[in-house]
Amino acid sequence: MASVVIVGTQWGDEGKGKIVDLLTRYADAVVRFQGGNNAGHTIVLKGEKFVFHLIPSGVLYKNKKCIIGNGVVLDPAVLIGEITELKRRGYLRDDSQLMISEETHLILPYHRKIDVAREKSFKIGTTGRGIGPAYEDKVARCGIRVVDLLDEKVFRKKLEDNLAQKNMYLEQMLKEKPFDFSEIFNEYLSYKKQLEKYVKNTSLFLHEAIQKGKHVLFEGAQGALLDLDHGTYPYVTSSNTVAGNACAGSGIGPTMIGSVVGVAKAYTTRVGEGPFPTELKDEIGEKIRERGGEYGATTGRPRRCGWFDAVVVNHAMRINGVQGTTITKLDVLNGFDELKISTGYRIHGKIYHHVPSNLEMLKSAEPIYEELEGWKTEIRGMRKISDLPRNAKRYLRRIEELIRTKIIMVSVGEERNETIVIKHPFAKASQSKSSPRKGREGRKK
Ligand code: GDP
Ligand code: IMO
Ligand code: MG
Repeated sequence: MASVVIVGTQWGDEGKGKIVDLLTRYADAVVRFQGGNNAGHTIVLKGEKFVFHLIPSGVLYKNKKCIIGNGVVLDPAVLIGEITELKRRGYLRDDSQLMISEETHLILPYHRKIDVAREKSFKIGTTGRGIGPAYEDKVARCGIRVVDLLDEKVFRKKLEDNLAQKNMYLEQMLKEKPFDFSEIFNEYLSYKKQLEKYVKNTSLFLHEAIQKGKHVLFEGAQGALLDLDHGTYPYVTSSNTVAGNACAGSGIGPTMIGSVVGVAKAYTTRVGEGPFPTELKDEIGEKIRERGGEYGATTGRPRRCGWFDAVVVNHAMRINGVQGTTITKLDVLNGFDELKISTGYRIHGKIYHHVPSNLEMLKSAEPIYEELEGWKTEIRGMRKISDLPRNAKRYLRRIEELIRTKIIMVSVGEERNETIVIKHPFAKASQSKSSPRKGREGRKK
């Protein structure tokens, strides 16, 4: 099976968009399987910058299908904005390139309002895009799907039922203004007209494509520590960001996945609230933020920055079954005298090598650091591991040992070609179907 899942292994913004764009060359289709426009995936191509919130990061190639899977929550206005902008820039000329699952749930204006209003009292630091409330409705079985929007009668009934409850909640609990039915109804019918040509049974399409031997790339959003079950709950997003959800979120079975590739930044960042053991609240953190341009691709918020945390990335390797890792933004660490990697935590005098589920423990975790010498040479132009300065190679080797997973690519700049490819994951996917745990344990350290 030559299908590859790409997932973030920290708190998001690891550079997944760049890696997906790079690998799309070897794929026939790219699928977003969870999250919504809380994601911001950046691609830089010959100096031109693109930020995608909903459209899969494979869209800059002609002839590659881009699929918004059932696991995504879709804000139609944002998608239409992205489509319009892409067409203006000369991409997505052929409408058959983009497909939206009939089963994708819609984000409605009341979801956004509830999200923002609740932040005032229950601070998660969400993106305010209505992601959590839309997933809540999906689970409560009152959500409105794309297929419901296509049938005016069904949409009317579902919107009426929902608004009756949401308006009560908004007015009485959140002290917000209610919504007018016809405004939303008419607004969404106009979206229907613009989007219906893209709506398909994408599970069926993917199944048939994979059966025919096509290569599919599954593009994760957010990161492992933002996973609803396995992240730093409640400071997480409202979907499962792990590779396992590539199946549920796109309507294919686990036997159709060939391999899982993790993306980790050479340091750590986080946006929003919640514990972050290796956070640097000093001038080093500031230096990383400025050098790495660490400002949110969706909200523009400054990202919190810190040292690489091997405990966090190890956690991600395990819950995703990662078989190969990409390290991104290594160039941002050029010029530091010394670099630190957290190899464990000290919590109330005890040493831990895993991320504790108890948030109070994680909040008081003191990282146990290993110090490594930095390097001064500019590495952006380098295309082979052997070209890298000795200390950069040491840094990567140490990360590889600590996370017990092979580094298969190293990104040294934002451009597509500023990448060192050690092992191409699609080649790997077609060669072996061995279990990730076996693969990792069998490897010599
Ligand atoms: P994503 O959400 O995981 O796709 O990541 P974002 O796009 O939110 O954030 C990653 C940022 O780092 C973007 O601005 C990318 O253009 C940039 N980027 C990705 N890889 C590299 C790299 O190796 N070096 C540098 N300097 N920037 C990179
Ligand atoms: P990409 O795909 C970084 C964070 C928010 C907040 C928490 C919950 O670009 O890596 P939400 O709006 O999802 O309910 O917010 O999750 N968050 C992200 N942080 N990158 C993202 O996406 C994120 N998507 C959500 O900042 O802390
Ligand atoms: Mg991002």
